[in-house]
Amino acid sequence: MPAKKKAPASPKAKPKAVAAKKPTAANTKVKKSTAAASNPADSISSLMQENRLFPPSKDFSSKAHISTLAQLKALREKAAKNPVKFWEEQAKALTWFKPWKTALKWKHPFAEWFVGGKINISYNCLDRHVATWRRNKAAIVWEAEGGEQRTLTYQALLSEVCKFSTVLKSLGVSKGDVVAIYMGMVPEAIIAMLACARIGATHNVVFGGFSAEALRERINDSKAVAVITQDGSYRRGSIVPLKDNVDAALTETPTIQNVIVYKRVGSDVNMMIGRDHWWHERMMVPMAPCAPEPLDSEHPLFILYTSGSTAKPKGILHTTGGYITQVAYTTKMVFDLREEDLYFCMADIGWVTGHSYIVYGPLANGASIFLYEGAPNYPAPDRIWDMISRHKVTVFYTAPTAIRGFMRAGEQYPISHNMSSLRLLGSVGEPINPEAWIWYHTLIGNKRCPIVDTWWQTETGGIMISPIPGATTLKPGSCTMPLPGILADVVRKDGVSCGPNEGGLLVVKHPWPGMLRTIYGDPQRYKDVYWSDFAPTRTRPGYYLAGDGARKDKDGYFWVMGRIDDVVNVSGHRLGTAEVESALVSHKTVAEAAVVARPDDLKGSALVAFVTLKSGVDSEPSFLEQHREVLRSHVIKEIGHIAKLDEIRFTDALPKTRSGKIMRRLLREIAHGNVVTGDTTTLEDFSILEKLRQDEE
Ligand code: WTA
Repeated sequence: MPAKKKAPASPKAKPKAVAAKKPTAANTKVKKSTAAASNPADSISSLMQENRLFPPSKDFSSKAHISTLAQLKALREKAAKNPVKFWEEQAKALTWFKPWKTALKWKHPFAEWFVGGKINISYNCLDRHVATWRRNKAAIVWEAEGGEQRTLTYQALLSEVCKFSTVLKSLGVSKGDVVAIYMGMVPEAIIAMLACARIGATHNVVFGGFSAEALRERINDSKAVAVITQDGSYRRGSIVPLKDNVDAALTETPTIQNVIVYKRVGSDVNMMIGRDHWWHERMMVPMAPCAPEPLDSEHPLFILYTSGSTAKPKGILHTTGGYITQVAYTTKMVFDLREEDLYFCMADIGWVTGHSYIVYGPLANGASIFLYEGAPNYPAPDRIWDMISRHKVTVFYTAPTAIRGFMRAGEQYPISHNMSSLRLLGSVGEPINPEAWIWYHTLIGNKRCPIVDTWWQTETGGIMISPIPGATTLKPGSCTMPLPGILADVVRKDGVSCGPNEGGLLVVKHPWPGMLRTIYGDPQRYKDVYWSDFAPTRTRPGYYLAGDGARKDKDGYFWVMGRIDDVVNVSGHRLGTAEVESALVSHKTVAEAAVVARPDDLKGSALVAFVTLKSGVDSEPSFLEQHREVLRSHVIKEIGHIAKLDEIRFTDALPKTRSGKIMRRLLREIAHGNVVTGDTTTLEDFSILEKLRQDEE
């Protein structure tokens, strides 16, 4: 039986402590006027300011890689003067077969990093550790949804990767080919990725929850020659029929020649002779060393698709030397990685966090990673806490959407487990609302663990803005400051930096090593989407447009307000919907909220909120009717009359992407009363859409 946790053990004691610090008048300033008022079209109004401060503890700092603010400042200043030199220094921590000649070739907007250098990522993640005492260290500690466990040491992982590289080659897959990976969260998915990296094949991981249609589109766009999949994968106790989906996708994929099927669940699947091969049969090859291919630094490592708002998904292309330099460095510094850590990133391998911070960053650092196969709330809502306590996880990285899900389930679940092994928590994927931050800090981190709120994107390859946990004082809801070597800023439409607390556009002003190189097969779209708003002029270089709204406070801390698409214009004020959502979620009954705009003749936009209440809250229509008013007043109290909600709809669930982001675009269409158009292939659960439409009637 797991031991009881000490500090916030009493469910009653905790909310008091948290409530004392709630962002109300005492510690939250509501800005009466912003620079936006003078020119509403150029700025985004930010109305809420969170003022709680969490300095690093002496204990944490004393053991950290960067242990003082002065040290971090000095590093940041030095790196800002010469970012290329800074990244060259970080690249030297890796093993290169041949050193680079030119660190950065920049022909706006196309970057090449460490040109002339030869490197192999699988070598850096495996062979070089196997040559040291880490040979017998756990690389992957895996737990199946059903409870089965496996541990692969670095030596064992290298052997599997070498064998699978040989398998790929024997099927004619070679350097430069694209290989689709459509799997669940099993060690074999990592083996497949590393084997591709070893032989120079470019992987295109397609999330195992995507439909056959989404898979087909991604295979065809990337011209993949092979698919690696499983018969099925376990999810919430049932089986996801991956191989059946592959069969359906492959009816119209002219480039695919081979399918390799890992037997995970033992279900009946159709195997097409000549095309389909069992993983276990092919792996019975004699163990032969498979030398890592020395690859150009700019060799394509992977393509990963992210959904565009209306057009087809974008194939984000990442290459080798620059990418691994940034992810290896940021993993070490942001998670303050230590040799004895057991590092658990809850993301799926099918999105970029899985690529950079389950696989490449941690393994490049010789870390032990914990990998979990299944749903976070299966068979019970405490599954994650149970695993953290049983395996003694030390670093835990997840997304605000998951945290809000955990909050919704209730604090009795984390409280019943001893999670004292944890020393650091991370967040990624969305702005984390202060309420969720405090819950995470109190209930999961026992007020002891720093939280690194990491801002980055599929496009940036690695973390860009984040605390350095031994040095940065945290502010709940802020991802704090750009990492050394990253020149990010918040600017107005004309490219001029915004003043303190003035909302604007998040940009990056200097190329960075992990940046996307292009949109696969569509360089024009790459230029248009990311580089056309701030093209180079005589007085300034071109800036990368991240597509997020943000502000910097008086201390230079960044507060991301969500995607620019999610900005609404109410009575001449552009509001980040994330702030309104944050205010809603700070009400004790609300688990999750999404706010979108509906055109309104009078106000420009009317605000529509989709709200999920916590479990146990009354769902009687009469209560809900009253509760609408309560929430309306609550938001007005927190933010002001400008954020008065015109409509509140209660729903059991919100439509989300597979990576947990609320698909506000769909909600916007529903709020407009239109049918949903555009790309819905990334939607996690189609039935939610139906439900929301019905609720409307
Ligand atoms: C959002 C995920 C606020 C942001 C790694 C960004 C965040 C988009 C944060 C990229 C954060 C990610 N705070 N917002 N810490 N992290 N975002 O490509 O809008 O799935 O542009 O990459 O997520 O999402 P993506």
